Amino acid sequence: MFYDPAKTYDDNFDNGPFAVSDSDQPYANIQPPKYKFLDRPINLPFGIAAGALLNSNYVKYAFDRGFDVLVYKTQRSVVFPCNPFPNIVYVDVDGDLTLEKAAQPLVGHTTTTKPITQLSITNSFAVPSRGPDYWIDDLKTAVSYAGPGQILIASVVGTIQPGFLPDDYYNDFAATAAMAASAGPAAIEVNLSCPNVATEGVICYTYDAVVQICQRVHTAVDNIPIIIKIGYFTPDQQNLLQDIIRGTAPYITGVAAINTISAAIVDQNGDQALPGPNRLRSGVCGASIKWAGLDMVRRLKDIRSALNLDFKIIGVGGVMTPADYYQYLAAGADLVQCCTGAMYNPHLAAEIKQS
Ligand SMILES: Cc1cc2nc3c(=O)[nH]c(=O)nc-3n(C[C@H](O)[C@H](O)[C@H](O)COP(=O)(O)O)c2cc1C
Repeated sequence: MFYDPAKTYDDNFDNGPFAVSDSDQPYANIQPPKYKFLDRPINLPFGIAAGALLNSNYVKYAFDRGFDVLVYKTQRSVVFPCNPFPNIVYVDVDGDLTLEKAAQPLVGHTTTTKPITQLSITNSFAVPSRGPDYWIDDLKTAVSYAGPGQILIASVVGTIQPGFLPDDYYNDFAATAAMAASAGPAAIEVNLSCPNVATEGVICYTYDAVVQICQRVHTAVDNIPIIIKIGYFTPDQQNLLQDIIRGTAPYITGVAAINTISAAIVDQNGDQALPGPNRLRSGVCGASIKWAGLDMVRRLKDIRSALNLDFKIIGVGGVMTPADYYQYLAAGADLVQCCTGAMYNPHLAAEIKQS
């Protein structure tokens, strides 16, 4: 894996990415780009969602392995610490992580022998950031690594700071987006769905907040396309999802779904697996959440045609094999991204290209 869960976040940040094996080779795109995304030529509508690419070294590694549409890990307007180690544990899920299963505690392990097709993990980082003095320059460097038919997207989130009112929080999304825009990414992804920071919560289910944030980010970044990253909406929340799409439509170019599915993670004794306050629940990703990503892609496609809109749909969740990529395309995704899959198989894009 190129992020090594047995090492701390800082070790991974400073010394990674770590090669998966001696056979880890770059992939050279030899055909001219045949697809388009956000009006830019791309080699394949496939890439890596926010999270696995901690800095420009990771971005370079992923571009070099044929992942063409990358997202630089979500950044903040302030320095923000990482949750205590460990940050990734493997979780036991039999088949799909349905919402019924996610309502029960899942058992986490620090090692696994599962094949990639059955691999699910929980990640609990709290969206750490080294602050804009570091990441704006590093994002510029990362943008410069894109080869022909490749693009980089910057992901941002607001940070609640002492004394902040909701308005200040929404403005912080916009300020962070403006900082990211200054580095020249192909798009700004607004992360409305990270479950790991207790005070911030998951904002994508609050209509007014989402629309306010999108409006302000749109004003702040001028002409750069905006993508919103959202979590899973249950079928009962379909009207809310439709309202949010309608309300944000004037400001956004794409919707990326899904983030992780939240569950309580315990050890074999039934105790909280991850150390520290507010860490009983964390986001599960990997093979067991593919059903939810596919479901959201299909429902976003229905909403897009019902409202006669033309935003792009970015399908994320449980893409571990080339077959999963094709399943997302068949469901209606304009672009497919993986996070866990790429971390454990950096040749996934090359395998799709060769398939
Ligand atoms: C290690 C790790 C870190 C992540 N960090 C972020 C993040 O900073 N911002 C974000 O929007 N999503 C983040 N995610 C969520 C992924 O972008 C993705 O939505 C989720 O993992 C589902 O895709 P997957 O099943 O392919 O992993 C992270 C996921 C992982 C595995």
